[in-house]
Amino acid sequence: MSLKSPTLKQQIELMRYALPRDLGNDLILRVATRDDAEPLAQMVGRVFGRENFDANVAAYARHYTDETHPIIGPSNVLIVEDTRVDKIVSTMCLIPQTWTYAGIPFPVGRPEVVATDPEYRNRGLVREQFKTLHALSDAMGHLVQGITGIHWYYRQFEYEYAFDLGGGRVCHFSNVPALKEGEADPYRVRAMTPDDIPFIAPLYDRACARSLVTCPRPESLWRYFLDDSPLARAYRLPFQIIETTDGRVVGYVDCSHDIWQDVIVVGEIAAAEGQSLRALTPTVLRWLKAHGETESAQQNKPVNAVYFALGREHPLFDAIPELLPRTRLPYGWYIRVPDVPRLLRHLAPALEDRLARSAMAGHSGALKISEYRRGYKIVFENGKIANAETWQPTVDERGDCGFPPLVFLQLLFGRATIMELREFFPDVWANDEPTILLDALFPKQASCVCAVG
Ligand SMILES: CC(C)(COP(=O)(O)OP(=O)(O)OC[C@H]1O[C@@H](n2cnc3c(N)ncnc32)[C@H](O)[C@@H]1OP(=O)(O)O)[C@@H](O)C(=O)NCCC(=O)NCCS
Repeated sequence: MSLKSPTLKQQIELMRYALPRDLGNDLILRVATRDDAEPLAQMVGRVFGRENFDANVAAYARHYTDETHPIIGPSNVLIVEDTRVDKIVSTMCLIPQTWTYAGIPFPVGRPEVVATDPEYRNRGLVREQFKTLHALSDAMGHLVQGITGIHWYYRQFEYEYAFDLGGGRVCHFSNVPALKEGEADPYRVRAMTPDDIPFIAPLYDRACARSLVTCPRPESLWRYFLDDSPLARAYRLPFQIIETTDGRVVGYVDCSHDIWQDVIVVGEIAAAEGQSLRALTPTVLRWLKAHGETESAQQNKPVNAVYFALGREHPLFDAIPELLPRTRLPYGWYIRVPDVPRLLRHLAPALEDRLARSAMAGHSGALKISEYRRGYKIVFENGKIANAETWQPTVDERGDCGFPPLVFLQLLFGRATIMELREFFPDVWANDEPTILLDALFPKQASCVCAVG
C-alpha cells in the first residue's frame, strides 16, 4: 500500500463525515479531483502571495493535486467550494509520512497549505476541514499530526509547540568571502542526481542521529526530492552536490527556491567523513549568494543573506563562527497527539531503554500524569511498560504530576525538562520520586526535522 492510498477504514471515515458535505450557504466540503489543480493553484497563490501572486506555492499545489504525486495526490486534498459561484474558497492537504522518535518509527500526518479566501474567513471553514482531516489521518494510522504554521492559530485545534522548528545562524552577503584575484574555487556545486544517493544518504542519516525526532529518508524519498519533472521543478530546487574540481563528492547542501523575509534558506548541509566543512564553505557561500541574487531578480524580491535554518546547534556553526554573527531563535513544530497513551505504548521500547540506563532502572509502579481535566497512567513492571492508558484525575486523587492541557507534549518531545516546565508554568508540578522518573523517561533533547513537504 502506498502512503497515499485510502484504506477501507479511510473510505469508511469519509462516508462517516459524509463527503461531500453541505456546510450551508452553498458551501460544499469535498475531496479534490485532478480538475481542481489549476483553480486551487490560483487560489493558494493569491492567498499566500497577498499583494503579489506566490508562484512557488501555486506550483506546489499544482503538483500535489496531480494524480502522479507519489505521496499526496488529490485524495489527500480537502476543498471548500462555493457552488453558487463555482469557486474554491478554502483548502488544506494532508501529507502522510513516517518519522522516528529515539529511533522508533511512527506514522505522522502533516496538514499543509491551509488557506481561506479573504472573503470567506472567520466562518469556521478551517475548523470544519480539520475535523475531516484529523479523522482521515487517524484512519491512516497516524499517531501524531504535525504542522508548521502561523503563530498561536493551531492551538485551537489541539496542537502544542512540542519541539523546535528551524532556528540557526545568518550569513549576510557582505560576509561571503570573495575569491582573490587569480584564485580558483577549489570546489564546485552541481545538482544532485539519483546516482549520488548512495554517497549522500549516510550524511543525512548522520545528521538525523543528533535529533530526537527525525524524518528518515529512504531511497524512495530521495528520489521524490530529486524528481526533475516540470511539475516538481517548478517549485523545488534539487539538492546540490559539493565536489572537488576533479569530480570527487565531498558534501551536499539543500537550499530553498523561495526567498523568505529577505533571505534564502538552507535546510541541510553536510560534509563527507574526513572532509573539512570549513574548507568547503567559502565555495558554497559564493554559490548560495549567486543563487540568491538570481532568484531575487527572477522573483522581484530583495535578498541580502543566507539563513542556515539548521537548529540550535550544527557543525557548520562551529566551522565558520566568524561568518555567522546573527542567531535566529527557533520557532516550533505544532504537534497534535490524539491518543497520548497509544503513542506512549508505541514508544515504550525507547522509554524502557532510557529507564534501564537511569537511577530508577527496574522500577515498578504506576505514574499518574494529570492534565487536570483528563490524565494518563503508565504502569511499570520491573522496568518494562506493562500498560499506558487514560486515567481520570479527581479532587481527591490528583496523581503524581500535573500539566495544563497539552504541555506534557513538550516534555515527551524533549523540548524542556520537568524542572524547566515548572519554572515556565506555575501549574506544572511533580512529586519527588515522579520527578526522578520523568527526568529519566523524558530527557531534554533537541529535534531538527527535515519533513516531507
Ligand atoms: C489562517 C486562515 C487559514 C484561517 O482561515 P479561516 O477559514 O478564517 O479559519 P476558521 O474560521 O476556521 O478559524 C477557526 C477560528 O479561528 C479564528 N481565526 C481565524 N483566523 C485567525 C487567526 N489568524 N488567528 C487566530 N484566530 C483566527 C476564527 O475566527 C475562528 O474562530 P471561532 O472558531 O471562535 O469562530 C486564513 O486567515 C488564511 O488563509 N490566511 C492566509 C494564509 C495563512 O496564513 N495560512 C496559514 C498558514 S500556516
